[in-house]
Amino acid sequence: MSDDLAALAARTEADLAAAADLRALEAVRVAVLGKSGALTGLLKGLGALPAEERKARGAALNALKAELEAAIEARRAVLEAAALEARLAAERADMTLPPRPFAPGGKGGIHPISRTMEELTAIFGAMGFRVVEGPDVESDWYNFAALNIPDHHPARQDQDTFYLPGEIEGHRAVLRTQTSPLQIRTMLAASPPLRIIAPGRTYRADHDATHSPMFHQVEGLVIEQGITLGHLKGCLTDFLRAFFGIADLPVRFRSSYFPFTEPSMEVDIGWNRRTGELGAGSDWLEILGSGMVHPRVLANCGLDPRVWQGFAFGMGIERITMLKHGMADLRPFFEGDLRWLSHYAASPLAPASLHEGV
Ligand code: DAH
Repeated sequence: MSDDLAALAARTEADLAAAADLRALEAVRVAVLGKSGALTGLLKGLGALPAEERKARGAALNALKAELEAAIEARRAVLEAAALEARLAAERADMTLPPRPFAPGGKGGIHPISRTMEELTAIFGAMGFRVVEGPDVESDWYNFAALNIPDHHPARQDQDTFYLPGEIEGHRAVLRTQTSPLQIRTMLAASPPLRIIAPGRTYRADHDATHSPMFHQVEGLVIEQGITLGHLKGCLTDFLRAFFGIADLPVRFRSSYFPFTEPSMEVDIGWNRRTGELGAGSDWLEILGSGMVHPRVLANCGLDPRVWQGFAFGMGIERITMLKHGMADLRPFFEGDLRWLSHYAASPLAPASLHEGV
């Protein structure tokens, strides 16, 4: 390399090392490779050289150009990484800071769905249940087959499933239509005794005043030895009375059918259909599904049904929230209307409104 090119290379490398940020780097690039950059000027001057010098000089200039471009890109990578680090450090948010108090008409409150989930956690937590979560995108083995809902079972159509492209572990991918797959995931992941609830999002292709394509359910599962229908009835009666805050809420168990429980029962609470008042009047309102875990479901999870028994239940979180707070329409839950939210949102600092006598 001729002396002038070696000097240009050395100077540029020193400038690159001194460039402390992306802006300074760009200035170095422009000074060398820009329209009126030093190297660009030398390349332009090639035409004025005698033909016999031109070839060697052109090759040297192009080699230097490639070398400097690579050096600039290498420096850019270093500076970009440093810039990202600095930004991550500067934008850090302290999640442990306390929330600002919620004032009526002010900003920030707990969405009624979240509040109901907190209440479910508090009530079932006091009864020894822990909270589990699972994926929204589920394989149809967990969502259906393992729950004793075979391929051509009508429940597959009833639930208006959103099927997704692709497979998970060799099974069709779906948006889970129910939280019941958490029964399977829990039994496969841990050994009994088990007491879990699984609140979360569920999806069905359905949309009107009482249905949303995305909604929430909570699943419950108890697996122990010697569990009977009596335990199921006691547990759900206590839960409903605590959740609605009505100590003598009438609760009725009605025989029903679900593929994953045997026997299956729907649970109704007493209310007055005309006024909407819960716990009064002589009408019944269906509130949840439940039953003793089907022996085939236990066996699908590797549990011997002669040793282990249990019960399961599932309910819609929007539905119990609407009933508790006298809400008429499901859609505002997901519309983000600040007037609705500031009316129904709960203060983050207020204790959950639960009945004391559990
Ligand atoms: N998975 C049912 C549904 O989405 C609800 C349900 C019923 C869950 C009975 C249960 C149960 O665990 O035992 O309609």
